[in-house]
Amino acid sequence: MQTVTQLDPLRGAVEALRADGPIALVPTMGALHEGHLALVREARRHAAHVAVSIFVNPRQFGPKEDLASYPRQAERDSQLLEAEGASLLWLPDVAAMYPQGYATSVSVDGVSAPLCGAARPGHFDGVATVVCKLFNQVQPDLAFFGEKDWQQLAVIRRMARDLDLLFPSAEAIRGVPTVREGDGLAMSSRNAYLSVEQRKDAATLPRAMRQAIAAIRGGAGYDAALQALTSTLLSGGFSSVDYAEIRDAASLELREGPHSDPARLFVAARIGTTRLIDNMPL
Ligand code: PAF
Repeated sequence: MQTVTQLDPLRGAVEALRADGPIALVPTMGALHEGHLALVREARRHAAHVAVSIFVNPRQFGPKEDLASYPRQAERDSQLLEAEGASLLWLPDVAAMYPQGYATSVSVDGVSAPLCGAARPGHFDGVATVVCKLFNQVQPDLAFFGEKDWQQLAVIRRMARDLDLLFPSAEAIRGVPTVREGDGLAMSSRNAYLSVEQRKDAATLPRAMRQAIAAIRGGAGYDAALQALTSTLLSGGFSSVDYAEIRDAASLELREGPHSDPARLFVAARIGTTRLIDNMPL
C-alpha cells in the first residue's frame, strides 16, 4: 500500500492504479473500526484497487464540537488498511486540503436540512465540500459509505446527481449496512469517548429503537412509539435526545404514519457529552 500526503504524488499514484482497472474510494476520518474495514472489503469486491482517504475535516465540525479531541491514529489505521489489501492511503493535512485562500463551499439543500443538519448547522456543507474535493482528487469509479450515516449518504448522492459528477456517478455511490457490536451498538469512532458505564448504557439506543419498530409493526402510532423510545433513553443513562423521528428513506421527508414508500427511524442522543446516532428500517 502506498501512502501519499500531497496532491501531485496522489495524481501520479491514482494514474498508475487506474491503468490496472477500476478504483474504489472509501473516504474516512480515520480511527478505523470494523465498520470502516467492512467498507474496504466491500470496495475490494467491486474494484481492482481500493483507495482510502483519512482526513479529519475541520469544516464539518461546529465550533463547540470535538475536532481537537477526535481520535487520530494514522499509524495503526495504516497497518489495518495494509492488512485489508487497500492499494492507496490518501492522507492529506489541512494545508493540502484547504490551502491559503481556499474559499469554496458545496451546499446541498433539502436532504441536508433536518436531523443532523438541524442539530449541527453547517455540518453537511463541510461534508459535501470535502467529499466533492476527495472525489475530484481521486476520481474513483465507485465510492463506499456506511449506512450508519444515512443522511450523509443521501446528501452525497444528491450532490453527485446535482453536479453531474462522473467519478463517481450518483449510481456508483454505494451504501454498506451498519456494523454493530455484540450488544447492538452501531460501531463509531466516537464510541471510544464512552466510559465503561456509558458504554453499557449506550446499548439502550439500538434496543429502544428495535422496541419502537416492533411496536409500530404491531400497530402502535408513530408518536406514541417515539415518545416511549425517548423515555427509555432518558431513563437508561442518556442525558438528552436530539431527535427521534421517522422519515422517508430516500427524501428524508417526515412521516407521521404509515406510507407506501420505505421509511426509517432516525435517532441522535447524548450520553454525557458524547453524541450517538443510529438509524434502522421500519
Ligand atoms: O463519514 C465520515 O467519516 C466523514 O463524514 C467523511 C465522509 C469521511 C467526510 O469527512
